[in-house]
Amino acid sequence: MTLTHLLYRSSGRIEHFQGDCDAILAAARVRNAAMSLTGFLHAEDGIFVQWLEGPKPLLDQVVDDILADTRHRDITVFGRGPITKRQFPSWAMGYSNGHQAPLFDWLAERETNSHDLRGYADSLHQFLLLRAA
Ligand SMILES: Cc1cc2nc3c(=O)[nH]c(=O)nc-3n(C[C@H](O)[C@H](O)[C@H](O)COP(=O)(O)O)c2cc1C
Repeated sequence: MTLTHLLYRSSGRIEHFQGDCDAILAAARVRNAAMSLTGFLHAEDGIFVQWLEGPKPLLDQVVDDILADTRHRDITVFGRGPITKRQFPSWAMGYSNGHQAPLFDWLAERETNSHDLRGYADSLHQFLLLRAA
């Protein structure tokens, strides 16, 4: 079955960011495990960056829910399409936050500019892989 992925960035709408992240994660891990999905979520300063991967029909179902979820807005999709192998095979949904690892400092050090969509997507991907290592 075709493996596919989604990589996006969004702004959280939630008021109690940490508590809600915990709830989102707990529910996501249960559903992802049941649907053979894996990935990684980073939350920082009200921003989410998430990579999600798995069999295309199952991923598409969950992605529809995520993209329609009112707990975030201003969603920018940086990547969606087939992949040859899972990037986060051991994570029903890994998680890091800005206290553990500041993403935006890391992007600035790499002089990553969000106008270069491909470069920005690559940097987000690399950052999440580093967090998952
Ligand atoms: C930032 C963020 C990340 C999410 N990640 C996942 C996820 O990895 N897997 C998942 O099943 N739901 C995830 N959700 C929750 C979905 O948007 C949705 O609420 C959930 O799948 C349940 O959908 P339902 O209430 O229509 O059954 C996420 C929500 C947010 C706000």
